[in-house]
Amino acid sequence: MRPLRIGIAGLGTVGGAVLGNLLQNADRFADVLGRRIEVTGVSARARAKKRGVSIENLRWFDDPVELAVSPDIDAFVELIGGSEGPARVAVTAALGAGKHVVTANKALLAYHGFELATLAESKGVALLFEASVAGGIPVIKTLREGLIGNEIKRVYGILNGTCNYILTKMQDEGSSFEGALAEAQALGYAESDPTFDIGGMDAAHKLALLTCLAFGTRISIDEIHCEGIEHIRRADIEAADELGYHIKLLGVAQRTESGIEARVNPVLVPKDSAIGEVSGVTNAIEIEGDYVGDLLLVGPGAGARATASSVISDIVEVARGDCLKPFIVPAAMLKPHKKATLGAHRGAYYVRLLVHDRPGAMASIAGRMAEHDVSLESIVQRRPRKLDPGAAPKVNSNNTMQLVLITHDTVEASIRRALELIEQDGKIAGRAQMIRIEKL
Ligand code: HSE
Repeated sequence: MRPLRIGIAGLGTVGGAVLGNLLQNADRFADVLGRRIEVTGVSARARAKKRGVSIENLRWFDDPVELAVSPDIDAFVELIGGSEGPARVAVTAALGAGKHVVTANKALLAYHGFELATLAESKGVALLFEASVAGGIPVIKTLREGLIGNEIKRVYGILNGTCNYILTKMQDEGSSFEGALAEAQALGYAESDPTFDIGGMDAAHKLALLTCLAFGTRISIDEIHCEGIEHIRRADIEAADELGYHIKLLGVAQRTESGIEARVNPVLVPKDSAIGEVSGVTNAIEIEGDYVGDLLLVGPGAGARATASSVISDIVEVARGDCLKPFIVPAAMLKPHKKATLGAHRGAYYVRLLVHDRPGAMASIAGRMAEHDVSLESIVQRRPRKLDPGAAPKVNSNNTMQLVLITHDTVEASIRRALELIEQDGKIAGRAQMIRIEKL
């Protein structure tokens, strides 16, 4: 059988590892597949940049679009990144020219997945993106193939390695947010713009793809409620820990009576739960299917080699000649996304307030909660420690008490309204901190 000829655009951390793997496994893949996988062309920003692997013998393209449509390739591997610009233009050109496409680009798919899948299907070529969600965890193949006999009820998990790394470092080592982020960047986990990680957008892109695959709906990144970890303080991590919880940034997509609830948000989870114990850059995804029950996938969510492992699995799938629909069902059959009302979310909440230490303050707060039918499970009050900026404001710091409340199950709209009024009543300093407690 003739070789599969591939072109790789983007030779950063992941691209270099993909190239290294293909060279290292060239003979093994030839034996297993009965055909060779040959890299025939590459494109990147800087030709002369030092890389772990040599590109001297490969044809160089300054323009990734030229590589994408080159008659010398059968498949185009896009590792440029970004939802617009060269990545989008090159992938569209490659599919249009009848090339298979393998990409790790979650942002591109979250915004343009539907149109790209439609184009791939019309050309009868593959559009594969295993590496775009949860790095080295084969969650897309699991949903597309392994769980095809299931109706999926809920899919949720830790989808951003950088955030989990930061939260773990703050939790276990008392690191500052900024210090832990700098380490995640140095280790190659973070996006080129790390606000995508810490603001939750990276996880939202991944959740959009999982939602589409799990529920057969069109991708709708704009319908995902997205909160990041920028507002999480060490005071929250410590208070949660004392109450038996860890704080994790979770992506959650579930069917509800009013539609699909899809959200990325920091949540409290019991620290001895499977998700609560996942630390560092590790990702974890739990999938609830009606036949399989609960399935937990855990593994490295970022990093060059882990992500390359997933890219390689897609390249090998193309070499085998498999050509499944990108989103399981034909793109035209994906249903419109019906969004659940987030205010209708029912669950327990963690609330941290810095209360002015004056008579009646506590009674006023409890009164507002009662007015909105919010019942309290636990109340912990103490003088705030100077853990980090934001734990206690400089002004009034001697006159405030930190109050941590855990509520019983309540409707989100009710607690939000109660907190708005508590802020207006002037009994607390700064904003109220509210974090959902996730039912696992
Ligand atoms: N920045 C991403 C993360 C890389 O931290 O999870 C993998 O998508």
